[in-house]
Amino acid sequence: MPVDLVVVGLGYVGLPLARRSCSAGLSTVGYDVSASVVDGLNAGRSHISDISEADIAEMRSAGFRATSDPSAIHGAETVVICVPTGLSADGQPDLGAVRAASRSVAAHLRAGTLVVLESTSYPGTTEEIVRPILERESGLRVGEDFHLAFSPERIDPGNAHFGIHNTPKVVSGCTPLCAKHAVAFYGRLVETLVVSRGTREAEMAKLLENTYRYVNIALVNEVALFCDQIGIDVWDVLHCAATKPFGFAPFSPGAGVGGHCIPVDPRYLAAKADVEGFSFRMLSAAQDVLSRMPEHVVGRATALLSELGKPLPGARVVLLGVSYKPDVADTRESPAAPVARGLRERGVEVVYHDPHVPEFGVDGLPMSRVASLVAALAGADLAILLQDHSCFDMSLLARADCTLLDTRGKVAGARVTLL
Ligand SMILES: NC(=O)c1ccc[n+]([C@@H]2O[C@H](COP(=O)([O-])OP(=O)(O)OC[C@H]3O[C@@H](n4cnc5c(N)ncnc54)[C@H](O)[C@@H]3O)[C@@H](O)[C@H]2O)c1
Repeated sequence: MPVDLVVVGLGYVGLPLARRSCSAGLSTVGYDVSASVVDGLNAGRSHISDISEADIAEMRSAGFRATSDPSAIHGAETVVICVPTGLSADGQPDLGAVRAASRSVAAHLRAGTLVVLESTSYPGTTEEIVRPILERESGLRVGEDFHLAFSPERIDPGNAHFGIHNTPKVVSGCTPLCAKHAVAFYGRLVETLVVSRGTREAEMAKLLENTYRYVNIALVNEVALFCDQIGIDVWDVLHCAATKPFGFAPFSPGAGVGGHCIPVDPRYLAAKADVEGFSFRMLSAAQDVLSRMPEHVVGRATALLSELGKPLPGARVVLLGVSYKPDVADTRESPAAPVARGLRERGVEVVYHDPHVPEFGVDGLPMSRVASLVAALAGADLAILLQDHSCFDMSLLARADCTLLDTRGKVAGARVTLL
C-alpha cells in the first residue's frame, strides 16, 4: 500500500515532522530501530516533550503508525531521514546512524522515490556518504531513477511560536530535478522555502546557524567572566547593548551550552576543517570559553557557601532546572551535569528541582529530586538557578530564605547573586 511519507528516526526531529505531515493530510508511517519508541507510539504514548498524547491520538486517527520493519520504506513516495548525528567517544562526528539508515532505505528503495536527509552534518555528507550507499545498494541512480535532497532540520524544542509550518526551510537537491521534487514535497508542509544552490551549501548553512549561536554564547560568557573580574554588572551591560535596534543580536551567559545541537554541530565543522587542513580558530576559542563555564559556576557557588560560613562537606545545594535549556525535558549534554559533578567533588550534597525532568543523575549516580520549589528552597543552603523555566515562580525565588545564585539574570532580591 503506497504512503506519501516514511519518516526514518522518530525523535525530537522526526516525530514533529510526522505530526506535521499527518496534519497536512499526507499518509505517514514512522520507521525507527527502537522497539520501545515504536511500541510506545503505537500504544498512544509520546516520548518527546513537544508532542502530547493528544497529538499522537490525532496522528493515529489520521492513519499514522510506527514500525521497526524497514520494508515499510518500499511503499513510500518520500523518505525523510531524521536519525541522530552525535559524537563518538573521541569527540569526532559519528555518522553510524546516517549510514545504517541509508542502508535500510537502499534495501527498500523504489524508482521514483524522493529521499531527503534532514540530520545535521558537515558539507559533503549527502553526496559523499548517503548517495554512494543508496546507489550501490539499490542499483538505482540519483537524478535518473530516484531523487536525493538535503533539507536541514530547524526544530526548536519548547518554542511555542515557531513550528515546522511557519519556520522557513532550506531545501537543496543533488540535481535541479531532485531540488524540484524536494520543493514540491516540503511545499505541502512549510509556508516558506529557500532553495540553496546545492546540498553542500544547505549543509553548511545549518552548521553556520548553530556555530553562530555557539560562538556568540561563548562571547557573552567571556564578557561575563571579564565583568566579574573587574566588578561590572554584566546583566546591565547586556540590557543596555540589547536596546540597539540594529546590528546587535542578544545572547545570554549561563553555566554552558547543552543539547544535541549547539555543542555538537561545531564539532562537525571543526572535523571537516581538519580534513581540509583549515584552522577554524573561532571554534577552538569558543570551545575553550564554554568549557570553563560550569567550573566558574561551581567557583561562584563555593565562594557563596564560604561567605555563609558553610563548610563544603555537609552543605546542601539545590539545582533549579537541569535540562539543557528552559521549558524542555531534554538533559542531553546539560551543563547541570558538570556543575553537579564539580560540587559533589568538593563534598557538597547536590539535589535538584525540575518539573520537566523526573530523573537526573551524573556519572551513573542518581540525584535526589525535590518535587516542589518551596521545599527545594527551604531545605537548601544555596540554590542555583541554571534554567529559567517559565513555570518557575520568580517572585518566590526573589523572596526565598536561602541564598540564590542566578546564572540566567532573571531574579532580583536581597539574597540573590547574579552570575
Ligand atoms: N533535537 C533538536 O532540537 C534538533 C534540532 C535540529 C536538528 N537536529 C538534528 O536532527 C537529527 C536528529 O536528531 P534528534 O534530536 O531527532 O535525535 P533523537 O535521538 O531524538 O531521535 C533519533 C531517532 O532515530 C532512531 N534511529 C537511530 N538510528 C536509526 C536507524 N538506523 N534507522 C531508524 N531509526 C534510527 C532512534 O531510535 C531515535 O528514536 C540530528 O542530526 C540532530 O543533530 C536536532
